[in-house]
Amino acid sequence: MTLETCIGGMAAVGAGHTITFCTVPSEAFAPDPSSAPWWRRGVVYQIYPRSFADGNGDGTGDIAGIRSKLGYLRDLGVDAIWINPWYLSPLDDGGYDVADYRQIEPRYGTTDEAEALITEAHEHGIKVIADVVPNHTSYQHTWFQEALQAPLGDPARDRYHFRPGKGENGSEPPSDWTSVFGGPAWSRVDTMTDVEAAADGVAEWYLHLFAPQQPDLNWENPEVVEEFEAVLRFWLDRGIDGFRVDVAHGLVKDMDYPDLGLATDALLTSASFDGHPFWDRDDIHPIVRRWRNLLDEYDGERMMVAEAWVRPERLPLYLRPDEYHQSFNFDFLEAAWKADDFRTIMEKATTAAAEVGSTPTWVLSNHDVMREATRYGLPDGTDWRSWPATGPANLLDAELGLRRARAAALLLLGLPGSAYLYQGEELGLPEVWDLPVEVLDDPVWEQSGHTLKGRDGCRVPLPWSRSGASYGFGENEGWLPQPQVFGELSASSQTGIGQSTLELFRKALHLRREFGTSDETVELLDAGDDVLAYRRGSGLICVVNFGDEAVELPDHTRVLVHSQSDALAEAPISSSLPPNTAVWLQ
Ligand code: NOJ
Repeated sequence: MTLETCIGGMAAVGAGHTITFCTVPSEAFAPDPSSAPWWRRGVVYQIYPRSFADGNGDGTGDIAGIRSKLGYLRDLGVDAIWINPWYLSPLDDGGYDVADYRQIEPRYGTTDEAEALITEAHEHGIKVIADVVPNHTSYQHTWFQEALQAPLGDPARDRYHFRPGKGENGSEPPSDWTSVFGGPAWSRVDTMTDVEAAADGVAEWYLHLFAPQQPDLNWENPEVVEEFEAVLRFWLDRGIDGFRVDVAHGLVKDMDYPDLGLATDALLTSASFDGHPFWDRDDIHPIVRRWRNLLDEYDGERMMVAEAWVRPERLPLYLRPDEYHQSFNFDFLEAAWKADDFRTIMEKATTAAAEVGSTPTWVLSNHDVMREATRYGLPDGTDWRSWPATGPANLLDAELGLRRARAAALLLLGLPGSAYLYQGEELGLPEVWDLPVEVLDDPVWEQSGHTLKGRDGCRVPLPWSRSGASYGFGENEGWLPQPQVFGELSASSQTGIGQSTLELFRKALHLRREFGTSDETVELLDAGDDVLAYRRGSGLICVVNFGDEAVELPDHTRVLVHSQSDALAEAPISSSLPPNTAVWLQ
């Protein structure tokens, strides 16, 4: 197979089958990239603190562990870390159930240690983004405990959504809303307390769009609005550089609580229609504007990134100049391994971000989804979200999955905008899909009636060394068991090994600084059905072969980096690119 190219006006024509590369200019969207704030192009490394590194040997990751790895993160070449919730929490949903937004969970450390981490990260040139969880608290939050004890009509109850049930004695939930994790979105108050909270014999219920341990806050209550502003200030005053806002499309509810008439609402799906009673309501935006004003009062380039699962046409609303700086774009993470799908997503995301003066964000993986090294090894069309408890052992091609994940990394890291990496992605970690059910911790397992295993498989403690009780995660075993393969995938086993996944990421991240961030433009190159190619203003060309035949590469002066590992190498990459492989050329 050979290639004809019109990149840069040059033509390289060979014999046989020909693929034509033609530039399809896309919009240039940065006013002055040289003075652009860090987040417009930063690489943000996501830390799930429970599973990152355990500094005190109790089996749970902690702030001491994170501090001990700052050198690793600096050398990897990331610009920022985003730390999943680290606040006081019973960890019923891995910390997304906050009992006190101003205190650090003691299993993770102390507020002083958090401050020390922020300072040290800054010394390493790394920004720190905290996670803020405004849609719901933990049932252990003082507010909810007060509400449970308070008589009907008491202002303490108005901070949440309490409602009498329907039917005889209020025995039916107030509406048919379902929780994202499965089951009804309402629980009876008397399941949480001994206090008789029924009026005239009618049972009271409270709303939780997630687990029953996560009661939803009432954002029409001014006390809630003020409290969160105070919480943001608390962390901004301690040097936090930004916030990732959880369930940013939730918050405001239709307080008539109309029935939806739907059987279920799938996990983390976007609002499916205008006027939805709890997703993506217009009244969210005034709240966001207040937060933005608040952030703008602070010096430095503080930022907010929204976790907003909304329809693509609604996303720009969150990115207006006086709202969020960024929003996650989860489309890559949902995409099948097809050049066309990735190309379409790239085009849409860059155009949509440009329209509102933002830059796109790219995500292949996070703490909520199956790791991509496994996802890409499953047959096309596998519904990995509803992966049943039995697992996909006989369907999985792990080597193919890793090969594609490595190619996807180069695709992602070459793009303008910011890239969010999930801890362990740089090690090519697979999903641990065969965790024994006794150790499962994700509320999805219980709430789905033991039909879905949930998200624990991507939250297994990281391996840092080839051996040891938890492969260097800590001195003792971690809170979830690690598979044996974690030894050879550990950070130290991969360090200095030419084409290891870790060295691939290191190289790409350093090259990205050199070649990728000086401009915010990208040209999509028309490269045929199974090939995605683009060129950056700096001259960097990224070619990704999604197909199952090798393709010829366009003319270039040098190969900067490629995703093929030594073990898979059929031939050195110079003029042709093997299947499921990516390359950066100059
Ligand atoms: C989204 C978070 O990413 C997920 O982990 C969490 O369970 C839900 N929000 C609820 O807070």
